[in-house]
Amino acid sequence: MDLMDKIVSLCKRRGFVYPGSEIYGGLSNSWDFGPLGVEVKNNFKNLWWRNFVHRREDILGLDSALIMNSKVWEASGHVEGFSDPLRECQNCHIRLRQDVIDEFNFEQSTCLKSKDKKHSWGEIKQFNLMFKTHIGSVEDSSTIVYLRPETAQGMFVDFKNVLSSFPRNLPFGIAQIGKAFRNEITTGNFLFRLRELEQMEIEYFISPPKTDADWLKHFELWRSEMWKWFEIVGIDKDKVHEHEIPDGERAHYSKRTIDFEFDYPFGLKELYGLAYRTDFDLNRHQDYSGQDLSYKDSEAGESIIPHVIEPTWGVDRTFLAILLSSYFEDGKRVLLKLKPQIAPYKIAVFPLVANKNELIAKAKDLYLRLKSKFTTVWDDRGNIGKRYFSQDEIGTPWCVTIDYETIKDESVTVRDRDTTKQIRIKIDSLTDYFAKLLDG
Ligand code: GAP
Repeated sequence: MDLMDKIVSLCKRRGFVYPGSEIYGGLSNSWDFGPLGVEVKNNFKNLWWRNFVHRREDILGLDSALIMNSKVWEASGHVEGFSDPLRECQNCHIRLRQDVIDEFNFEQSTCLKSKDKKHSWGEIKQFNLMFKTHIGSVEDSSTIVYLRPETAQGMFVDFKNVLSSFPRNLPFGIAQIGKAFRNEITTGNFLFRLRELEQMEIEYFISPPKTDADWLKHFELWRSEMWKWFEIVGIDKDKVHEHEIPDGERAHYSKRTIDFEFDYPFGLKELYGLAYRTDFDLNRHQDYSGQDLSYKDSEAGESIIPHVIEPTWGVDRTFLAILLSSYFEDGKRVLLKLKPQIAPYKIAVFPLVANKNELIAKAKDLYLRLKSKFTTVWDDRGNIGKRYFSQDEIGTPWCVTIDYETIKDESVTVRDRDTTKQIRIKIDSLTDYFAKLLDG
């Protein structure tokens, strides 16, 4: 089994990620985060929020609507330009993106309808990736709305609102975590390219630069913040490579973009992005809305349109990169070396044997105490070795065993996931012990 198959299988078996709508035969490219998956996802989204919103004074949070006035997407350029070049085989009617045809050399490959024929690719057509729907009961062109394809625009549209509630000097940023939707033509590779995805984005507003050095300074600061994030969250930095997007290949709004690519088992592909969006978005929204979106610069005494540096992180790709970075096989055991802050359970509590009332009562008591402070799981199935292996596979950093010694001296065994080393600790000092480890 290759690594991706192992990860997909572990995710399903242990409740991290299930195929979406499975009892109805599934739905292409749809996945549900199970009880452990949602814990991991919430853990790193909370870390992100703490790191970029709570710990800083220059960034404020937002949670804007998913469905916005259609003019937003006209102004942003998505109605006109958020499309992929698509070609359809005239025989079997499969549709593929041009870059996929090139990458896998499908130009010359056999048609799905007939083994004797090659694909006969039609003209390139632009296919808009936004999901369209209608608002209200009338379905005509005046009621068309789109599911947002990026969270970014909410932050531009609310720029003035945020600024008037929270007057700030430049530079300052707005951060948002939320779902976005893209009707991707070519999906696959598990969580890599989804139609329903989630993003963590920051729009960082800076003064209009007088020289390139003025915006580069902020761009470089965000570049280093993004490298630090890999460490915070436990993504293997050796597998991350920067890719400078050349002129002509960048999104319409960007003067510079760096992709942070990850070495997935299926190739080196985008994980995150960092872009200098200039004043494109605020200018366009000012033009299309007719509202004044300028910022009054108190020092210069003039009104200006701020420029924007945008670091962006995909939630689903973060999830995938974390799992790929933490999956290890060690003899018979499989372990996820998740950072303790990311692990779905921090602690597992076991009674040494499951049929001794005294041990069980003591273990249950400790379990409830720990559970009130940390995400903790109880396990009394099978033998202790199997329980360790089972917790290793879902990344639980510490297992606590209550045994006969505990009754005598109020101490327990704490076993470390990565080293498998065991130490004895007094029950009364356990909370402090784990709190310190998690803080670190
Ligand atoms: N606001 C800028 C923006 O949306 P993007 O590069 O199109 O830029 C940002 O998307 C991030 O969102 C990507 O780096 C990636 O992590 C994630 N992402 C984009 N499309 C995705 C998809 N179809 N499935 C999963 N994640 C995706």
